[in-house]
Amino acid sequence: MARLDPHSYNDSTQPETETLDWKARVDFRTRRLHAEATLTLKEASAGPLDLDTRDLDIRGVVDAQGRPLPYILSPPEPILGSRLRIELPAGLKQLTVRYRTSPEASALQWLTPSQTAGGQQPFLFSQCQAIHARSVVPLQDTPRIRIRYRASLRVPKQLKSVMAASFVAREEHGVEAEEHYEMPQPVPPYLLAFAVGSLTSKELGPRSRVWAEPEALEDAADEFAGVDDMLKAAESLFGPYDWERFDLLLMPPSFPYGGMENPRLTFLTPTLIAGDKSLVNVVAHELAHSWTGNLVTNASAEHFWLNEGFTVFAERRILEALAGPEVAALHAALGRRSLDEALHHFRAHPQLTALRTHLSGVDPDEAFSQIPYEKGYLLLRALEDAVGRPTFDGFLRRYLAKYRFQALTTEEFVRFTEAELPGALAKVDADAYLNRPGVPPSAPRPTSARLEALEKLRGTVPSQADTKDWTPTEWQLFLESMPTDTSQDVFRELDARFSLTGSRNSEVLVAWLVAALRAGFDAPLGRAEEFLGEVGRMKYLKPLYSVLASSRDHRKVARAAFEKNGARYHPIARQGVELILTRA
Ligand code: BES
Ligand code: ZN
Repeated sequence: MARLDPHSYNDSTQPETETLDWKARVDFRTRRLHAEATLTLKEASAGPLDLDTRDLDIRGVVDAQGRPLPYILSPPEPILGSRLRIELPAGLKQLTVRYRTSPEASALQWLTPSQTAGGQQPFLFSQCQAIHARSVVPLQDTPRIRIRYRASLRVPKQLKSVMAASFVAREEHGVEAEEHYEMPQPVPPYLLAFAVGSLTSKELGPRSRVWAEPEALEDAADEFAGVDDMLKAAESLFGPYDWERFDLLLMPPSFPYGGMENPRLTFLTPTLIAGDKSLVNVVAHELAHSWTGNLVTNASAEHFWLNEGFTVFAERRILEALAGPEVAALHAALGRRSLDEALHHFRAHPQLTALRTHLSGVDPDEAFSQIPYEKGYLLLRALEDAVGRPTFDGFLRRYLAKYRFQALTTEEFVRFTEAELPGALAKVDADAYLNRPGVPPSAPRPTSARLEALEKLRGTVPSQADTKDWTPTEWQLFLESMPTDTSQDVFRELDARFSLTGSRNSEVLVAWLVAALRAGFDAPLGRAEEFLGEVGRMKYLKPLYSVLASSRDHRKVARAAFEKNGARYHPIARQGVELILTRA
């Protein structure tokens, strides 16, 4: 028995799945998928096959001829879920599991019509990363095992499904529609993704369209109009785009992340719709995952930095190509602030602040932080600075070529880098990034003229002239850098002059609300309460609830807001907020 991924029951001595054929009927009334999953193995074999499941109601397991196969579903473990052990007779290559998902499936959020933009139709979406795919499909839920799949979804006829795959056909039978999809490239299970709702689309370019509820479509199409330029910039940096299409799906407000890099169909939070394209770095990030993450994949959550650190690096290279080095430096500075905050937050768990983590017994959702993103970014920047950009670009291309459609570990990354860039890891003290807590003092620091100008104004009320060229990113940096002892007069004057409480940019708004409330300036409290009812993105819920919960006066406001809105948050977000409130 050999378990290579601490978050999967997969035993590496057992056969691997090659393809999945998945059929599911979406039942909004009972909030269940009635489904069957046919797994075809890479080679015929005999003996036990262990699959990951969570909260699945298994109805039966049969072979290709429909003959029942013996199986045992073990009692659930808190993080891993239940092992489904199927006994394979000699020569078996294909098996089918019939099952229903639970209304509480951790990968699914079922929304009532009132939780959507249109208010008329229900909505369903999946979010499988890191280990939630097993609550939707019984499979080997480890990124080491990639699968190709076909899928068909039966949905109410008035709704449309979308999937992170290639669309094949829609048929209508009575009150239902059946939609067929195919994913010809092998993907890790965490990239299985779909959504169902009142969805329409608009073309953005030859390879992209945006999907959204009709009420939100035009604004989304305007915000993301630049996506084709982004694709071209990314291809000139990282090589040809391998996934044919790069479509976007605008999610309902309860989507717990900024974006999710589902292949061919990136999921995006509606908080990106600022009206001025100022938050499209998130699109650049998810696009960059098409190379780093979706092609070259972390072997488990313990090597998550290989996905996210590389992707932040790639995101900022795309930004630099499109908007220039000053803009990329502003984003790097924001990243450094969020890294320092995360290090502070995890100060009691220093082992979780190394890039290479050890997560047996740790839920990946709880280990999640900005550390793999921003400390990973710093390591790659340090390497780039050490060997020079042209050499590093060559290295990156060879890395992508060598590991495409594969998963790798940090240890394999080290061996590859040592061979390709001899001495570079030692030169930047890579071991300090990979295996030790904190950030080495030698880590690169973003520098730029605009950052220096911002630093000079720290804690003051700038004039209209000072700020006339500021982008929302500069506002965000300025607000996040406000000293905690800034006087109330400064906050009052800032809001009077720049209407920050009315900002349409969610990053600026949250930076403002957090800075003001933390300093005891309560005027925007009402806006904060309102915002907690408008969004479900964890990046905003967590700091807002934390700042409210940290003050005696505001703790009850936080509790009341959670009481009122908690049921509408995504289960992962709800858990995160609950933790903040119980620790307060
Ligand atoms: N893949 C992540 C989101 C994720 C990570 C979901 C871990 C579940 C588990 C995605 O690419 C991401 O990093 N999103 C960021 C975007 C940002 C870094 C630009 C987000 O959601 O804020
Ligand atoms: Zn990412």
